[in-house]
Amino acid sequence: MPMMSERVAAGTLEVEGVSKVFKTRTGPISAVDRVSFRVAPGEVLAFLGPNGAGKTTTIKMTAGLVRPDAGDVRVGGVSLFARHDAVTAQLGAVLEGSRNLYWRLTVRENLEYWGTMRRLSIRGARQRADELLALVGLADRARNTVQTLSRGMQQKVALCQALMHRPAVLLLDEPTLGLDFESGAGIKRVVRQLAGEGTAVLLTTHQLDVAQELSDRVAMIRKGRLVLEGSTADVLARYSQPRATIVAATPWPADVAARLAGLPAAVTGDDSLSVDLADDRGSTLYQVLARLNPHPLLKIERHQADLAQVFQEVMGEVAGEVGGGAPAAPIAVSAQAGGMPS
Ligand SMILES: Nc1ncnc2c1ncn2[C@@H]1O[C@H](COP(=O)(O)OP(=O)(O)OP(=O)(O)O)[C@@H](O)[C@H]1O
Ligand SMILES: [Mg+2]
Repeated sequence: MPMMSERVAAGTLEVEGVSKVFKTRTGPISAVDRVSFRVAPGEVLAFLGPNGAGKTTTIKMTAGLVRPDAGDVRVGGVSLFARHDAVTAQLGAVLEGSRNLYWRLTVRENLEYWGTMRRLSIRGARQRADELLALVGLADRARNTVQTLSRGMQQKVALCQALMHRPAVLLLDEPTLGLDFESGAGIKRVVRQLAGEGTAVLLTTHQLDVAQELSDRVAMIRKGRLVLEGSTADVLARYSQPRATIVAATPWPADVAARLAGLPAAVTGDDSLSVDLADDRGSTLYQVLARLNPHPLLKIERHQADLAQVFQEVMGEVAGEVGGGAPAAPIAVSAQAGGMPS
């Protein structure tokens, strides 16, 4: 194994081969088994998996809160285990359930306390707290004690706390859990903004629509093992059954089916039809449109899988393949050629 990692950009998170076995009364549990991934500055990685898959354990190892049995975590090429304090100073984490908030202190006191712990000056901490509370819409609650806030508000304070020292890497374990629509949207906005400013974000969530909306890349874990990794767009493209629906402005002429003979198109209603683009070399849709011409059309829609479908499919695909032996290599999804005329 090389002593030094290749040069990576400052603020890049690298998790390499981390493993964790918990010893329990009923025997050892392999919670995380040789998991590796990387999150570049400005990137959001959605880390997805069913309950008990090992997401929180991985995040805790990444945050330096649980010591892995094997593997390494690096930020900007620097090992967490070699230089714990220097690396954790670049990390911010919002963890599931447990919060580092003092319930009897006010929101502001909590943030200022944490900020000074993270080596901000008192003045700097005060300014940063104001800035963050404004960002999450909690400026008017700064002087309330944390115990008087709603759960969603506490979640937002936890996010502010994680951001006080402007970490290069942000670890979010189910940050929108239990939040109302508006608060969830607020957190999404903040995540997007932080990524836009260059923060590397590792995000776990069971809300696959949130993952799809926010992520640049996706990693899926099942029973402690990484089973898929790739850019969100490539993953969606790979798992989608490409199909287009054409809706006409007026009912199809009687001979529509005859006109489409030989093309992978099927009439699905008085004014709709479906085009199978699975073996498309780029011209199928044009050919269909040419044959329909001059019939007036209302819309043409391309259907793509969403992450929820991909998740189900991947988890089904790998069921039975895991458990014992060397881990199968995760499905690496990379870019494919081919597009859609628009
Ligand atoms: N402290 C612990 N002691 C023993 N077992 C543990 C401990 N923490 C986690 N585990 C076990 O490790 C496995 C992975 O748990 P983990 O919390 O990482 O899952 P998760 O992917 O975060 O699940 P969820 O979606 O439910 O949050 C589970 O089988 C869990 O029971
Ligand atoms: Mg968890």
